[in-house]
Amino acid sequence: MKKYNVGLVGVRRGGGLVRAMAAHPQCTIRALCDVDPVALTDLGAHFKLPDRQLHTDFDDFLASDIDVAVIATPIEFHARQSIAAMQSGKHVLCEQTAAYTVDDCQQIIESVKRTGKTYMMAENYSFYHCVLEWKKIIDAGRLGKIYHAEGEYIHEIVDLLVDPETGERKWRYPRAPIWYCGHSLGPLLFLMGDRVVKATGVTPGRNMYPDRDSVSFLDMETGLFLTEKGAVIKILSSQTVKRYRKGGGYLTWYSLYGTRGFVESGRDPTDQGLEWLEDTDTPRGGARHVPTPFSDPDAPAEAKLGGHGTGEYHMVRHFIEALNQGFRPAFNAVQAAEVTVPGLLAHESAMQGGVWIDVPRFGW
Ligand SMILES: NC(=O)c1ccc[n+]([C@@H]2O[C@H](COP(=O)([O-])OP(=O)(O)OC[C@H]3O[C@@H](n4cnc5c(N)ncnc54)[C@H](O)[C@@H]3O)[C@@H](O)[C@H]2O)c1
Repeated sequence: MKKYNVGLVGVRRGGGLVRAMAAHPQCTIRALCDVDPVALTDLGAHFKLPDRQLHTDFDDFLASDIDVAVIATPIEFHARQSIAAMQSGKHVLCEQTAAYTVDDCQQIIESVKRTGKTYMMAENYSFYHCVLEWKKIIDAGRLGKIYHAEGEYIHEIVDLLVDPETGERKWRYPRAPIWYCGHSLGPLLFLMGDRVVKATGVTPGRNMYPDRDSVSFLDMETGLFLTEKGAVIKILSSQTVKRYRKGGGYLTWYSLYGTRGFVESGRDPTDQGLEWLEDTDTPRGGARHVPTPFSDPDAPAEAKLGGHGTGEYHMVRHFIEALNQGFRPAFNAVQAAEVTVPGLLAHESAMQGGVWIDVPRFGW
């Protein structure tokens, strides 16, 4: 069985990702990198790594004995670090979204072509249990042709935009809400096997934070997307909405309408989703309530180590399987661009009063 030495850059959220990787029988956590030496030492102690395997310099990290670089730094570093890692012979599992510009997304694709390395954007929500269950229904043709889908990612993170105590602006401060569309648009495109060809966006502006000068404080951004297969997708994104849930957390919600039925997730973890499929249900019987959990009930205990249901567990397994078998994984460089760029263009459209913008075709 082939073994992979794994290195991580960006040890905060990245800590969850590599805990999920460490639970994989083919992975050994070998090196960590972070510009914050305290955070670095803390995670290093968790994995019992000696100091020589802890790096504050990214080039030293790349010179270490690793096969896979997991990149979980702020998004502005993703493209540069992914390209440098592939250039130095590493496979890459990079946090989402892929980049902040269309050109950077294209450069990642070019780097995969040049180096032959495997790149995957770590879109973990697409590996939630409910999404994988819908994928079986859709791949079997039971939804028919999907003509409309909706996704919402509403996550109040004002204290991640500005430090509440010091007022310091954090790395997410310049990020428009819909730039972060991986968790909403990602699972939908994954399920639909489709890509966006035109994007438009709209925003009500900054009603809650009128004094803030950043697009990150827009109340909401709504993106409308036309796909190659002729479907319409609607995405809602917010980083400020006061839609709190008992016990904390955020809203992730999906629905997909096909010519033969529909599926829809619950709006709260305590809610059930809805499903109506022509081949099993009747119009009179109506939609069935179905659980739409993020966690796979049959997965082992360590499957929740990543922190998002069993999303990381199945995502890591998919990535390692792609390395083992040599196939391009889901959210490879082209698909990462296809998920990332519509959000960038929907924001651009919203800033221009809602014009429709053509989404470039990315390919190998
Ligand atoms: N998929 C998910 O569910 C999920 C959840 C949270 C965050 N994320 C993504 O993970 C990434 C990190 O988010 P976070 O919440 O951990 O951010 P964070 O600010 O909490 O942590 C970022 C870490 O990267 C380090 N860092 C910053 N610049 C660096 C550099 N140039 N080189 C090395 N280290 C550097 C920081 O010191 C810090 O430890 C982002 O891309 C974010 O979008 C994904």
